[in-house]
Amino acid sequence: MKKLRLGVLASGGGTNLQSLIDCCADNSLTAEIAIVISNNPDAGALSRAENAEIKTCCINHRDFDKRAAFDNRVVQQLQESGVELVVLAGFMRIIGPIFLEAFPQQIINIHPALLPAFPGLHVQQQAIDYGARFSGCTVHFVDNGVDTGPIILQAVVPVLEEDRADDLAARILIEEHKIYPQAIQLFAEGRLQIEGRQVHILPTDPNLGSR
Ligand code: GRF
Repeated sequence: MKKLRLGVLASGGGTNLQSLIDCCADNSLTAEIAIVISNNPDAGALSRAENAEIKTCCINHRDFDKRAAFDNRVVQQLQESGVELVVLAGFMRIIGPIFLEAFPQQIINIHPALLPAFPGLHVQQQAIDYGARFSGCTVHFVDNGVDTGPIILQAVVPVLEEDRADDLAARILIEEHKIYPQAIQLFAEGRLQIEGRQVHILPTDPNLGSR
């Protein structure tokens, strides 16, 4: 099977990127990371990519007057790298129409809560403050809303009485590192079919030789 070319966008530490690097290396993910792009020059994700000898590119949003100019630059870089799936891994910029038109149904995100509960930021603290007994993570296609796109996979973790946001975040991250590669593998195998809000997971094709 041909490897799916991923473009990973990350702004932070990059533990999700690392799990994808590891899964590509051990072939549990039939994909290759064509490029890692960050808007943050200090992102740990960039060093992780460099250590793995993956092409990197820093496109600092502060260097652009308008959001559209930044978006066009990132899209151009993804296209030049032959990216087939855009993977948001802690990318702290809004994905607007320029991205969505360039990569229709080809952008996915991971969110550290059980959507549709707790979209947005600081969601581990939100789950604790709300008194939720369970939280988790969600991999979803990106649409024009914030954390609103069709859901691919979710995983659940308990929220414990003594949890601080960091404790809950760490427990959720363990699951993120499992379900993000799984969701990408399903995409690589052509097994995700979007129908309205539903994402159908198709059975494995026994004849699957190439995408
Ligand atoms: C993760 O919690 C992810 O769900 C959210 O941003 C965080 C990124 O963490 N979108 P990392 O940079 O992958 O460690």
